[in-house]
Amino acid sequence: MLFSWKTEPYDGCAEALVIFSFEDSKEAIIQHPWTVKVIPWLKEMPWWQDFSAKKEQTAVYYSPTGTPFRRIILAGLGKKEDHNQDVLYSAWAKAFNEATENGITRVAFSFPTFEVLSDDVYWFLRELLFTGLSVSYEYREFKTKQAELKKQLEEQVVLLESEPDGAILDVLSYVKSLESGIVRARNLINAPSNEVTPERFVKEAQSIAETYDLKCTVIDQNEAERMGMGAFVGVAKGSNNPGYMIILEYCPRGCENEKPLVFIGKGITFDSGGISIKPASGMELMKHDMAGAATVLGAMEVVGTMKPPRRVVGIMPCAENMPDGKAYRPGDVLKTLSGQTVEVITTDAEGRLILCDAITYAVKTFSPALIVDLATLTGACIIALGDRVAGLLSPSTDVAERIRMLADRVGEKLWPLPLWDFYAEDIKSDVADFKNVGNRKAGTIIGGIFLKQFVPKEIPWAHIDIAGPAWAEKPWFQMPKGATAFGLRTLIELVKTWEI
Ligand code: BES
Ligand code: ZN
Ligand code: MN
Repeated sequence: MLFSWKTEPYDGCAEALVIFSFEDSKEAIIQHPWTVKVIPWLKEMPWWQDFSAKKEQTAVYYSPTGTPFRRIILAGLGKKEDHNQDVLYSAWAKAFNEATENGITRVAFSFPTFEVLSDDVYWFLRELLFTGLSVSYEYREFKTKQAELKKQLEEQVVLLESEPDGAILDVLSYVKSLESGIVRARNLINAPSNEVTPERFVKEAQSIAETYDLKCTVIDQNEAERMGMGAFVGVAKGSNNPGYMIILEYCPRGCENEKPLVFIGKGITFDSGGISIKPASGMELMKHDMAGAATVLGAMEVVGTMKPPRRVVGIMPCAENMPDGKAYRPGDVLKTLSGQTVEVITTDAEGRLILCDAITYAVKTFSPALIVDLATLTGACIIALGDRVAGLLSPSTDVAERIRMLADRVGEKLWPLPLWDFYAEDIKSDVADFKNVGNRKAGTIIGGIFLKQFVPKEIPWAHIDIAGPAWAEKPWFQMPKGATAFGLRTLIELVKTWEI
């Protein structure tokens, strides 16, 4: 998608101008000098007079002839006093869908009039452009009938009065670099498990490394076994598609000795449950159990395009959880890379097993400034928080709150759950150091408590359970149906703003 800006004359730069308004902002929009200069005829239009700007109300009209835009899309934002970010995302999404349903592929917005709508016009512009990019995403890989495909939005044009300042150019390049990572992550998550195997992750990571000059390390199953990653290998063994631990590192010159930010993503390319097999109904959705890894991969691509002045590492433990003659069984004891042992109670709690070895690898190899893991870890998290909110677990309430707040500004909702040590009683084992599950109580917290056993106290760490928001059953806020790549923007915010 193109993100561009234009000063006058605006003629022909887009097929439609989108005019946003709160119910009580119509007058201010009409009186704004930009409106008076560029579309003075608007206030005379009966359709403008009838437009009430109710939340998510949209309409498309033809402009009078001889005006710079052939069509006008009106988009209501509701009452200003009721407004919040989510209302904006939903209203914007509605406006973009209205555009594409009408065959409009290039839309424009008047940046000068945004001052009527928001106290932070750059935030408003950035999130608006991102929403356009996000909602017009569609997974097309296996569709062979053109007619069924959505018309694609191709360009968003920011209308300006004069040459753009640095802040506007920053917004345009930010959304442009997000695009590649978001689209790659969503394509991988939406793709079926016969396409996206652990090996495919290796290929994707190597191609990103080549394009953006990152370092890619691939640890295959034999090597992992030799290194002592008994938990990771235990899970991977049950599949014909071998598992891989994949590490992408971005290190600008001079930062070689800097403690990196380390992102870890759960990469189960299909979760059948293993020998503790899942019920058949809905099992097809377990193709997205690699959303954490795909999102970390996408984030590393964005890091590659942005070239920030700090070191960032992405780790993707990738494996397929299958029942087989070689599969691990309930009752098995696995020796993790940390040396600690785990009794497998259910082979369906596989995510924490591949993650704990990835965490130990990160700790031993990188001495991280911060570890954040993203994982579709527990169905319990969907029960607790619903499917638009991720669970946020960290031993440090300060780390958790800082991450929660920066995620919020990019529309990703994280909500804290505790990691108090008494919960660890539930995963005590008679034969090993821990069991891989508790007794069904506090399922999401127990997942976090398990991982906590592998993170040294002095290393800041947060676990984000994205089981809910990684996948959208129906579109919500700025997200399309299916894969969302939820968490990617939070990781990028961390890269931009986290102070060690
Ligand atoms: N991948 C699942 C969790 C999941 C469920 C993600 C639904 C997205 C949607 C995970 O590996 C799993 O099977 N978790 C078990 C944990 C239990 C065995 C402690 C679960 O949620 O039932
Ligand atoms: Zn899983
Ligand atoms: Mn599972």
